[in-house]
Amino acid sequence: MTRRLTASGIVAGYRPDLPILHGVSVHVDAGEVMTIIGPNGAGKSTLIKAIAGLVTVSAGTVEIDGEDRTGTPAHLLAGAGVAYVPQTGNVFTTLTIRENLIVGGAALAKAEALARIDEIFTQYPMLAAKRAEKARVLSGGERQILAIARALLTSPRIILLDEPTAGLSPMAAAELFDLVRGLVADGAAVLMVEQNAKAALKMSDRAYVLAEGENRIDGVASDLLENDEIGRIFLGARPEDVA
Ligand SMILES: Nc1ncnc2c1ncn2[C@@H]1O[C@H](COP(=O)(O)OP(=O)(O)OP(=O)(O)O)[C@@H](O)[C@H]1O
Ligand SMILES: [Mg+2]
Repeated sequence: MTRRLTASGIVAGYRPDLPILHGVSVHVDAGEVMTIIGPNGAGKSTLIKAIAGLVTVSAGTVEIDGEDRTGTPAHLLAGAGVAYVPQTGNVFTTLTIRENLIVGGAALAKAEALARIDEIFTQYPMLAAKRAEKARVLSGGERQILAIARALLTSPRIILLDEPTAGLSPMAAAELFDLVRGLVADGAAVLMVEQNAKAALKMSDRAYVLAEGENRIDGVASDLLENDEIGRIFLGARPEDVA
């Protein structure tokens, strides 16, 4: 098993005097979809941003393929094989689908970018069919596919997805999860944050439950589906409130 990403003891936040994460540790292996779930405000997006180099890490380490990359700025992480798809605002609605992909390939040599875009169009026929249309015509699910496809241009080995199914219909979410499963088939690793805990656990290999900026539970996703403790953490409810 190749370890792609190890985040150890991450302390991070938006102000030095107010850490949001209090020493969170997660890892992701090659070929694995790993999901982070937890209540609103648990620090899931903050963790993904700390890994992606968008939030200052004040303690702890981020290792990518065995190398210490703690604090590497986001724009340099693409070169280390990391792609990040944020929670919102993923596509440029006034640009065409093809132009959106070109933006994603900005770090590549032009010929390479165009070749990768052709590959992406072969892989995702929906994007190819709408290549000349503005991204604003896409449905929510199609926008997510475009956002992920754009992140794939640099052939990342680690793909960070923050709530890829937010706002999608159950059917569109299921399609997106199929796409995500496909991403790891060739040895990439996916770290995904999801709001829809049950659906996410069903399609993930392993998962972590985060609450109040701390690790709570982790394990094989199918085991966590059976874990009653998770419902309580999620609802912020006291055990006696849960019948
Ligand atoms: N840009 C920011 N500046 C200051 N505080 C922030 C910022 N973004 C998030 N926070 C705070 O950090 C805490 C964790 O937020 P975060 O977005 O990581 O949670 P989350 O688990 O992703 O929640 P959600 O499920 O709602 O997306 C919250 O208290 C939030 O208010
Ligand atoms: Mg979030």
